[in-house]
Amino acid sequence: MNLLDTLLRDEIARLGPMSFRRFMELALYHPELGYYERGAVQIGRAGDFFTSVSVGPLFGELLAFRFAGWLEALARDAGPVQIVEAGAHDGTLAADILGWLERQRPELFRNLDYCLIEPSPRRHELQRQRLQPFAAKVSWRSHLDKPSANSVTGVIFSNELLDAFPVHRLGWDARQRQWFEWAVAVEGGVLAWARLPLTSNLQEAALQSLSPALGGGDFSALAAVLPNGFTFEYNPEALTWWRTAAASLKHGWLMAFDYGLTAGELLRTERTRGTLRAYGGHRVSQDLLAQPGGQDLTAHVNFAALQAAGELVGLGTVGLVSQEHFLMSIAAEILPVPKAFGGWSEEQARQLRTLVHPNHLGRSFRVLTQARQTVSLSYALGGTLAKAPDPMDTA
Ligand SMILES: C[S@@+](CC[C@H](N)C(=O)[O-])C[C@H]1O[C@@H](n2cnc3c(N)ncnc32)[C@H](O)[C@@H]1O
Repeated sequence: MNLLDTLLRDEIARLGPMSFRRFMELALYHPELGYYERGAVQIGRAGDFFTSVSVGPLFGELLAFRFAGWLEALARDAGPVQIVEAGAHDGTLAADILGWLERQRPELFRNLDYCLIEPSPRRHELQRQRLQPFAAKVSWRSHLDKPSANSVTGVIFSNELLDAFPVHRLGWDARQRQWFEWAVAVEGGVLAWARLPLTSNLQEAALQSLSPALGGGDFSALAAVLPNGFTFEYNPEALTWWRTAAASLKHGWLMAFDYGLTAGELLRTERTRGTLRAYGGHRVSQDLLAQPGGQDLTAHVNFAALQAAGELVGLGTVGLVSQEHFLMSIAAEILPVPKAFGGWSEEQARQLRTLVHPNHLGRSFRVLTQARQTVSLSYALGGTLAKAPDPMDTA
């Protein structure tokens, strides 16, 4: 039994079964014992899972190429520009992006501010060390705050941030015809699943997040067909984060790269147990309660709800496409004139294959891009993406 396990049992003994959301918050973010705070290597070959960043620098370089195209045009019309990255982990992606911009777009690099959003003092320190060569370019904020509304002209983005926020896990009891919350209790000396009644506020907000899947239909029709035990995740923090980021954006693009579901996928009955899973040593597991703090926990992002939330506060949707589609549209611009990218090597071709291959990262990752345009521009914020068909429709 580890220290975090003991701490969880203590809290359950004092307060009763805890919501899975609280369990996940402590398992990932307890200030000393949480998975992301323990100081172990989590990402890459020696860790528990790969991200697009751990494949090599190409992912950041392709993003830098796309951002440069957007930001050079935006800077001409709207003045100084920013890139804001949240969930930057150890700062590798920021270093890849800044390194490419410094080499290939020195003028934009000089006029650019790169801001990292990082609540964890430990991660902040790791990022500071990693980004030492770019110290003059980089600043930090612990949170995207409301007071910073309308403060960003440029790009706000994250890679695998939203799927790492703690989620509520809700289940459907077909016999009682009611929703309940999956919670964590102690049974026979071990952490075990329990059911808690739902507050009406939580139920309303969680069901609201499914409404893009119902296309205006009502929940009573849904209740008649949902299998007993049907489970889904509700991620309030992702929605709040997206709304705050949208409010911070004066002019430019808001993007998320993540595992996630479209409106058409939210209620697929073959996914009756939801999307939460655990990663440890490059193995995926459904045993979410095992080794708290010792394995990653992650749930698919509800892209349809994010898209609706952004549109409600005035953003236009540029695209929701697979990572394969997003990166191949960049590669299609680079490959005919590799010099514009600084050359194209066999190693970069290898990295691209991993990033876009449907069995690696190409299909499971998706990219939501929204934009706000507040000054008249000589070009469209959507660029080439807006015209592209969404390959997920046929995926
Ligand atoms: C899966 S990792 C991100 C991986 C990284 N972006 C990459 O591409 O390799 C999730 C990160 O999000 C950070 N995080 C969690 N909550 C956050 C928040 N509210 N704001 C910013 N970062 C957060 C965690 O500390 C963790 O480093």
